[in-house]
Amino acid sequence: MRLLFIGDVMAEPGLRAVSLHLPDIRDRYDLVIANGENAARGKGLDKRSYRLLREAGVDLISLGNHAWDHKEVYELLEKEPVVRALNYPPGTPGKGFWRLEAGESLLFVQVMGRIFMDPLDDPFRALDALLEREKADYVLVEVHAEATSEKMALAHYLDGRVSAVLGTHTHVPTLDATRLPKGTLYQTDVGMTGTYQSIIGGEIETFLARFLTGRPQPFRAAEGKARLHATELVLEGGRPLSISPYVWEEP
Ligand SMILES: [Fe+2]
Repeated sequence: MRLLFIGDVMAEPGLRAVSLHLPDIRDRYDLVIANGENAARGKGLDKRSYRLLREAGVDLISLGNHAWDHKEVYELLEKEPVVRALNYPPGTPGKGFWRLEAGESLLFVQVMGRIFMDPLDDPFRALDALLEREKADYVLVEVHAEATSEKMALAHYLDGRVSAVLGTHTHVPTLDATRLPKGTLYQTDVGMTGTYQSIIGGEIETFLARFLTGRPQPFRAAEGKARLHATELVLEGGRPLSISPYVWEEP
């Protein structure tokens, strides 16, 4: 099974990169998953951004701390292949995991970290409970978290029990794609799909003003040439085989 995981699709540049490039490479992959929590102008996922991602060839969309920013997400979570973090409190709308089939089965799970983020339930124990009850040929865990230490700790906690652990949320790709000692494939952050002439996808002037003035500023997504950052996973015979970062830049 060949899988492409596309990092945080940020606003119009991110949507444009996916729409322009994914159809050209879609047939190389059995499954494509994208983080879409910033797709609707940088905050949340709405029906339009959901549709654009799906039309480009994305099978499943994950969210994150911006999951609830757009009210249309409630309907998407109910009806469509959209996943929020698993470790929200019991009773939260939507699901924290999704099962995909492409000859073999893949269980996709997202958890959110708790360092420098809203305090959710324990992601370690939430994953233990899920892995106890849900079985699949392969398991891919997305860790949507700020702290690299927390992502690495989760990855080593899961090493040998899941096929791959991929980090998202910081919008900054890390050059550490690797195989952990017990076989799990790992990368701390896939990086953002959006314009890198920005501050984590936000407009430079308004974002910079937050730091210079110490006061809140309006949020605006940056415009500019987009890059698609993704990670390819090859999973075969029940085993994780390889991990490779994938980058494409808008001409
Ligand atoms: Fe995030």
